[in-house]
Amino acid sequence: MARITASVYTSHVPAIGTALDLGKRNEPYWQPVFKGYEFSKQWLKDNPPDVVFLVFNDHATAFSLEMIPTFAIGTAAQFQPADEGWGPRPVPTVIGHPELAAPIAQSVIQDDFDLTIVNKMDVDHGLTVPLSLMCGQPGGENPAWPCPVIPFAVNVVQYPVPSGRRCFMLGQAIRRAVDSFDQGLNVQIWGTGGMSHQLQGARAGLINREFDNAFLDRLIADPAGQAAVPHIDYVREAGSEGIELVMWLIARGAMSDINGGPPPTVKHRFYHVPASNTAVGHLILENN
Ligand code: DHB
Ligand code: FE
Repeated sequence: MARITASVYTSHVPAIGTALDLGKRNEPYWQPVFKGYEFSKQWLKDNPPDVVFLVFNDHATAFSLEMIPTFAIGTAAQFQPADEGWGPRPVPTVIGHPELAAPIAQSVIQDDFDLTIVNKMDVDHGLTVPLSLMCGQPGGENPAWPCPVIPFAVNVVQYPVPSGRRCFMLGQAIRRAVDSFDQGLNVQIWGTGGMSHQLQGARAGLINREFDNAFLDRLIADPAGQAAVPHIDYVREAGSEGIELVMWLIARGAMSDINGGPPPTVKHRFYHVPASNTAVGHLILENN
């Protein structure tokens, strides 16, 4: 049987990708950011998944105002790093996992969630920066990402966006789908984006440490309570781009305690300000 063994949560700031790609990781500004992921890179090596189900948002790269799926599952065999205006990041092609993605789509759609099935999608910083942070920069003797990835894109860019409650319920449907897959696969689910940030308008540059840390506390200890928070509270408290945080509730909803199991173990927690315009938050939770 396939099982979700752990969930990982991390911000996805594009400047982090640039810092890595341009060899700036040891600069004083970036050092404290990357230090927060040293534990995580070793943890991922010690706990290698067979596949990562990676919840992220596209930033008008693969999708545009012409077509805006609320939830889209990547069922392709591979996904190319996107050109976001400066050429694609110099990172490997993302290898998909259609053998698991297709039955997850089947199960989740039959479980009443409308997913868009995507067989071609370039993946932007929303997906490649979390991979870089967790896996390190591939190259040399490690030219590929360590495992296949199922990209799962959520619309948090163009309103209306899905509620935290729906994201939390969707995570539970994804857990049921993985549990019903009859091959023994170790699956991790990652929730990405956030934390507080606003990139435009009068409040550009907004950071809210108190909100972010309360979110981390509640995501760990009271995820159902956090799922009841309406989307407008994220926008008000965490900025217009802080709404990316609802994606973390998909990963949290897929953990086994939500289905009556014991609470997860918090393996790692990290918070740092600033990185570009964004507060960086990061958690690793292991199922028990
Ligand atoms: C920044 C953060 C984001 O989440 C994003 O998608 C683009 C830019 C930033 O902090 O600059
Ligand atoms: Fe973003």
